[in-house]
Amino acid sequence: MLQFQILATDPDSHARRARLTLNHGVVETPIFMPVGTYGTVKGVMPRNLHEMGAQIILGNTFHLWLRPGLEVIRAFGGLHGFEQWPKPILTDSGGFQVWSLGAMRKISEEGVHFASPVNGDKLFMSPEVSIQIQTVLNSDIVMQLDECTPYWQGDKASGHVTTEAEARASMELSLRWARRCQAEFERLGNRNALFGIVQGGMYEHLRQESLEALAALDLPGYAIGGVSVGEPKEDMRRIMAHTPHRLPAHKPRYLMGVGTPEDLVEGVACGVDMFDCVMPTRNARNGTYFTRTGDLKIRNARYKTDPLPIDPSCTCYACAGAEGVSWEDGGRGGFSRAYLHHLDRCGEMLGPMLATIHNLHFYLHLMQEVRAALETGRFSAFRQRFASERARGV
Ligand code: GUN
Ligand code: ZN
Repeated sequence: MLQFQILATDPDSHARRARLTLNHGVVETPIFMPVGTYGTVKGVMPRNLHEMGAQIILGNTFHLWLRPGLEVIRAFGGLHGFEQWPKPILTDSGGFQVWSLGAMRKISEEGVHFASPVNGDKLFMSPEVSIQIQTVLNSDIVMQLDECTPYWQGDKASGHVTTEAEARASMELSLRWARRCQAEFERLGNRNALFGIVQGGMYEHLRQESLEALAALDLPGYAIGGVSVGEPKEDMRRIMAHTPHRLPAHKPRYLMGVGTPEDLVEGVACGVDMFDCVMPTRNARNGTYFTRTGDLKIRNARYKTDPLPIDPSCTCYACAGAEGVSWEDGGRGGFSRAYLHHLDRCGEMLGPMLATIHNLHFYLHLMQEVRAALETGRFSAFRQRFASERARGV
């Protein structure tokens, strides 16, 4: 099941405020979805995610198929019970991960043959297999298997940017796979929602062909794939400005693997409803904290004795401490930069845990502010103020 109700639109951009209803609950959009590749958002407990207001998280078909394997997850009735997350889950199809295997894979019309990076077993992923796995996972949103067209063919050192002919062949393969995914999804009687993925590389006319052919399949939602794949930032922004608002207006639009806080706010203006990215969680693990006035690297020696929290105005557990705890000396709750710097220097695991809580809170809170601005007709003003604050570091 999927229902999508648009609650407000911005007169000055393509932004919209909407409500997505899925089998495991309601998602208020625009939304950021934390990434939980292996059935865990690294370093945070589901209760932390609830507290931060996470409404939907990602999982990965490819990784969960390799480990723990389908039979284990089937025995738990799906991924929700296995990972103890009762709210909606979106699973990526494996297209992007198989592509990342590089030389270890062979792509044909039928699917992808590859050697398991875990134990070397010969494996085969096809549109049908991806849908069969995602049906066992019982994810609320199932992604089609696609071929993520890279910016560079081979690697950057090859100097070979994907040509129009290469991008077309790849986009057309993804379209044929979309039709096979839809047929398998229906054959299995899957009651969740299947999303198609627009490809076409950096070529607007190919993106247009892709989105029109996908729209004809009348799927319940659509994603924009093949961005953040090694291209210059201007190309990413060009595709982001081109594609989302051309997709069917009354269905959710998901920009895959994007991005920075600035990309999210601009993506909303381009008509995107859903985002995912490893940036808040991955950067947390290397000691980078996001704030409204720019990014803070906790390893820097200047924080060695700094008594302030990461962001004094942030209400997350890392910055504000637990609710309802009072301090005898009248001090405030929350962890100081000096303490977080110390944890980082000692390689203590609480460091990345607190950083992940803060960064995810930052992304989720940013989207909450975006939704509130859209509801009250202040989105344009919010967008301008946000961009200048982050740029000026005020
Ligand atoms: N994640 C980021 N980009 C992509 C893409 O193009 N396809 C898939 N399946 N996942 C992605
Ligand atoms: Zn915080």
